[in-house]
Amino acid sequence: MLADKDRIFRNLYGLHDWRLAGARARGAWDGTRALLEMGHDAIVEEIKNSGLRGRGGAGFPTGLKWSFMPKEVGERPHYLVINADESEPGTCKDREIMRHDPHILIEGALVAAFAMRAHTAYIYIRGEFIRERERLEAAIAEAYEARLIGKNNIHGWDFDLHVHHGAGAYICGEETALLESLEGKKGQPRLKPPFPANCGLYGAPTTVNNVESIAVAPEILRRGAAWFASLGRPNNTGTKLFCISGHVERPCTVEEEMGIPLRELLERHAGGVRGGWDNLLAVIPGGSSVPLVPAAQCQDLTMDFDALAKVKSGLGTAAVIVMDKSTDIVKAIARLSYFYKHESCGQCTPCREGTGWMWRVLTRMAEGRAEREEIDMLWDVTRQVEGHTICALGDAAAWPVQGLLRHFRSEIEARIAARQAERGARASAEAAE
Ligand SMILES: Cc1cc2nc3c(=O)[nH]c(=O)nc-3n(C[C@H](O)[C@H](O)[C@H](O)COP(=O)(O)O)c2cc1C
Ligand code: SF4
Repeated sequence: MLADKDRIFRNLYGLHDWRLAGARARGAWDGTRALLEMGHDAIVEEIKNSGLRGRGGAGFPTGLKWSFMPKEVGERPHYLVINADESEPGTCKDREIMRHDPHILIEGALVAAFAMRAHTAYIYIRGEFIRERERLEAAIAEAYEARLIGKNNIHGWDFDLHVHHGAGAYICGEETALLESLEGKKGQPRLKPPFPANCGLYGAPTTVNNVESIAVAPEILRRGAAWFASLGRPNNTGTKLFCISGHVERPCTVEEEMGIPLRELLERHAGGVRGGWDNLLAVIPGGSSVPLVPAAQCQDLTMDFDALAKVKSGLGTAAVIVMDKSTDIVKAIARLSYFYKHESCGQCTPCREGTGWMWRVLTRMAEGRAEREEIDMLWDVTRQVEGHTICALGDAAAWPVQGLLRHFRSEIEARIAARQAERGARASAEAAE
């Protein structure tokens, strides 16, 4: 279990003061000037050495991403954009940072912006997060007031931080759709390349990072890359916020060490699976976009990027959705398919048409109203969508369906067989009349 001394998020549950005084008492804004005095490139190097991987879903190394920004500022300013859209089903961690510990995010924004030679940062916040925005804005006002940020601040690096409130679209969490939306346009993903580090917000060099990725940066620099890298497992370092929901006794969000065994995570922090471990059917370990893992593979599963990739799933946002044996698994995945159909921005044909097609077929399959051949056809459609679209929403729609077919094909077959037997019996009865 993660020792209290190694916790980065010390007010995750809002039990203490979220304001500047409280944040300072917990260690935020402590020696920030000395952090900046390390220099732009040394900060990037330290974050690289810490092994931090992006907490927004894809797990891309954060220091490496920062190093893609140009080393000189040319005619175009550099921007940092913080992704606070948090719309992945099951994910509820960034909101806890923003409403209970906003100052660590603000300090992280200053440090990360400085590392990338940016004087301006935007926080793009999910449309539904009204209270979180209000608190974040209040904390930013405190930071300006105390001259921690702003022009001529006490840290010696001019820095403006703006909050932009989205309108509630999942696709605006995709980094290039987010940039479009921030520019006032329709939130539709851009083709890559060019990548944002070359041509991002207003055509200028930009880095987009998740809230958690930015919020942990100052503490990594204060305590050193070696400290962060000593937690977790090789290539999967540090602490991580896990959001545990579904069929557990006590759903929660908790900071733990990366690589904690799934069973320990659930039993120590969430009161275990409802009805006991043997009542587990499957988990979706990383938010709704990753394939489910059946109970048989969960016993010794550890919660990190590499271990979950080995079972053909992913850590994603570390939102662990637990399903016990009462779950109608086909109906559950059909419901997720509806979500992706609803959220598709419609630019690419495989995503626009495929998401609706997958949802309709799965809805029929949940009731057994399908033909056996359609199972293979559904698999083929997921493969036609996966990797053939502008953004990863297509993959996100295909993967949960693939997980279902990989592990619960027999359940679908049984429902089709039962329905056909029922139809046959009815036909025989009618013939006999
Ligand atoms: C459909 C879709 C939705 C996404 N939603 C979010 C989101 O809500 N928050 C987030 O941080 N990243 C989200 N991402 C990932 C971002 O595109 C991007 O990879 C991330 O913000 C990078 O931050 P990181 O490197 O710190 O992880 C989404 C991606 C896709 C394809
Ligand atoms: S994959 Fe879907 S959401 Fe992404 S750009 Fe294409 S149509 Fe839009």
